[in-house]
Amino acid sequence: MQLKNDLLLRAAKGQATERTPVWLMRQAGRILPEYRAVRESLNGFIELVKNPARAAEVTIQPVDILGVDAAIIFSDILVIPEAMGLPYTMEEKKGPSFPRTIQTEQDLQRLKVADAASDLGYVAEAIRLTKKELNGRVPLIGFAGAPFTIFTYMVEGGGSKTFSKARKMMYQNPALSHQLLQMITDSTIAYLKEQIKAGADLVQIFDSWAGILPPNQYEEFGLAYIAQICNAIQDVPKTVFAKGAFFARKSIGNLACEVVGLDWNMDAKESRALVGNQKTLQGNLDPCVLYAPYDVIRKETKQMLADFGNQRHIANLGHGVYPDIEPDKVKCFIESVKEFSTK
Ligand code: CP3
Repeated sequence: MQLKNDLLLRAAKGQATERTPVWLMRQAGRILPEYRAVRESLNGFIELVKNPARAAEVTIQPVDILGVDAAIIFSDILVIPEAMGLPYTMEEKKGPSFPRTIQTEQDLQRLKVADAASDLGYVAEAIRLTKKELNGRVPLIGFAGAPFTIFTYMVEGGGSKTFSKARKMMYQNPALSHQLLQMITDSTIAYLKEQIKAGADLVQIFDSWAGILPPNQYEEFGLAYIAQICNAIQDVPKTVFAKGAFFARKSIGNLACEVVGLDWNMDAKESRALVGNQKTLQGNLDPCVLYAPYDVIRKETKQMLADFGNQRHIANLGHGVYPDIEPDKVKCFIESVKEFSTK
């Protein structure tokens, strides 16, 4: 199906665009009252993730309500550990939690590489329904967590300030760490291929905790596995977003991806110099700018667009939109990008 708005895909591939495309990480869920109404009609977050019709509905909400240039499939990065044999729970305000974690070789032996078609078929089904419903209005983004970020959840059992359990394993049992990372990588490659088969137009890899590692460890335990994923996926553009990994921008510039996601600590011009001219940059307005008055949001957005220039840029925040941001402030950001980037 021909897309009516393909700005995101053209920008990702480095083709000319009449304006800068814009979407927000975590736009599906979190901020919209319309999302909360759907979630409350079901028995919690995980039930919504596994309900393709309702997942498709909340995926499309930001396209209708906010006017973004892309949809991102409503799901979570934690469906991979679950499909490998580690179920999770999601408690409101507490976040995700894993009753069982990976600490030993025996724990690892109880895991499997996910069978993407059968264990994660509900995500592919949600993608098919969303594509049908979108009817070519905007592209649909598929996604997965990067192996290192998924590894931290499987070892820590949840979020962490220091990630010391995961980091301890990397120093005390690097072989076990690499075995687990490889199983996650193999699961993720199969999963992203299923998403693309179902209709995802671009895929993004979220490495939310990349920034906690020193550069040499991030090369070995992080980027090596992202490189495998980028090399295995060839049919659609790929975005690598390694939050906090300012030290890895040059290396990410050498991966087989089309788009490099930047957080708000990373300078646009410095990032361009490090990443080179062959990639599109995505980002990177400070998410907290959306707490500011409207005139500040407009001014900061205009400055961001000037810093990136008007080609090979996808406008976004530097991380996911925060749950307590007013939808009208998000709209102001989106409309400012459209207004100030139009040639
Ligand atoms: O971008 C989108 O809107 C698509 C949907 C999406 C969700 N999670 C839905 C969600 C995406 C892309 C994610 C990715 C994700 N999940 C990441 C990587 C991105 C990032 O922000 O760094 C991470 C680290 C997770 C793990 C996770 N899921 C946490 C820590 C939490 C709890 C806190 C929170 O709100 O993020 C979740 C829950 C979650 N995932 C919610 C949503 C809409 C909120 C839960 C609810 O509605 O009850």
